[in-house]
Amino acid sequence: MSILIKNGTVITNSGQTMSDISIEHETVKQIGTNLNVQADKIIDASGKYIIPGGVDVHTHLSLPVGNIKTSDDFESGTRAAAFGGTTTIIDFAQQIKGRPLLHALNLRMQEARQSVIDYGLHMIIVDLPDEQEGELDELVKRGVISFKLFTAYPDRLMADDDTIMRTLRRTTRNGGLVCVHAEDSALIEVLVRNAVREGKKEPKYHAATRPARAEADAVKRVIDLASSAEAPVYFVHISCLESLDHIRAAQSAGRPVLAETCPQYLFTSIEDLDKPDFEGAKYVFTPPPRERWNQEQLWKGIQDRSLEVISTDHCPFNFRREKELGRADFTKIPNGAPGIEHRLQLLFHFGVLQGRISLNRWVDLISTTPAKIFGLYPRKGTIAIGSDADLVIWNPGTEITISSSTHHMNVDYSLYEGWKLKGNAETVLSRGTIIVDHDAWFGKSGYGKFLQRMPATV
Ligand code: URP
Ligand code: ZN
Ligand code: ZN
Repeated sequence: MSILIKNGTVITNSGQTMSDISIEHETVKQIGTNLNVQADKIIDASGKYIIPGGVDVHTHLSLPVGNIKTSDDFESGTRAAAFGGTTTIIDFAQQIKGRPLLHALNLRMQEARQSVIDYGLHMIIVDLPDEQEGELDELVKRGVISFKLFTAYPDRLMADDDTIMRTLRRTTRNGGLVCVHAEDSALIEVLVRNAVREGKKEPKYHAATRPARAEADAVKRVIDLASSAEAPVYFVHISCLESLDHIRAAQSAGRPVLAETCPQYLFTSIEDLDKPDFEGAKYVFTPPPRERWNQEQLWKGIQDRSLEVISTDHCPFNFRREKELGRADFTKIPNGAPGIEHRLQLLFHFGVLQGRISLNRWVDLISTTPAKIFGLYPRKGTIAIGSDADLVIWNPGTEITISSSTHHMNVDYSLYEGWKLKGNAETVLSRGTIIVDHDAWFGKSGYGKFLQRMPATV
């Protein structure tokens, strides 16, 4: 089907024009004023913005943790993403120790097939013996160009320094990118053991036992490893000024260090963990929410570009039955929070409308730069002739109230319950097909395609 979108204000990361956009065969065919083309459908976007679909490079759909899984699968999670204006996600496949990495990729590709929007996968590496190093090159060839390593979660995910170094070194040859969850596991283990011994078992001790110092120390150490390996590195979910200081210092020294933060670090704080009736458990995610003053520091990092990307780390567990597993002991609360649906709205309202970032920077943070870093640009992340017609018609005047009773995520709470925001995705197109229109759903399970990504362009 061909579509002509007329009279909208087209916003990219670098410009703003009043233009019409014509779409044919899944891609943008023409952009210009008063386009005189035939189309099966005409959409009038007067008074609205047209932005490239959001790119969320950090999600955890159907993630098994112990005996439970995150409550959104690839269908419900990507549907919720689309309602919020995100048209591409990158989730994770996880190495199974001793098995080929391609085996893990194939398994995860089966689950991801129900996605309603396009998706890529990062590969989580827990261990990299000699004989498996070459598999990283094969993954890059197959479009899995980013590898995630953890310096925490010793029982499940933590990679040792040797694995981190080997993975970093290999990426200097194959063009891949190492992404790191940085927290000092040894410090955290000691603090958790002491807290539990002292009977400190309420949700607030999640933050007390994972201090900013633990994150910042690990960030510094990984920067040093990446620097020895002469490899770029990308830090996920940066939450505090101490980490940002190390990132800024490395960037000022010319090192290829990239970093993201997430809305939960801009809009929630350590005080939320102390909410009564165990409600604090809703804010148990890792790294934990920090002291409130960090929020403005993170905004400064966004403004000076030491933070390049805002992703969600969407990792939803229901409050009832799932978060409640840790009622008697915070260490049993599954870590993670929902967020895939409201990233664009929160950043538009508190970022653009409150004067912290420009419209162009908003597009850059939520779409263009993540697409560039993770090898999707210019197919995704921009509005240009030939790029995928992943487009959002954004109504800047729509008022929404966030609530778990109306959101589309399959989870029984929201971090932002009752928050009133201005601006919403009104019509969402994925590769030229309308999947959301005025709150109605037109997408299909399995429509999303696996994205074979190319080594990064930034
Ligand atoms: O609490 C979180 N973020 N859980 C998901 C796994 C991770 O650390 O990214
Ligand atoms: Zn993490
Ligand atoms: Zn995560």
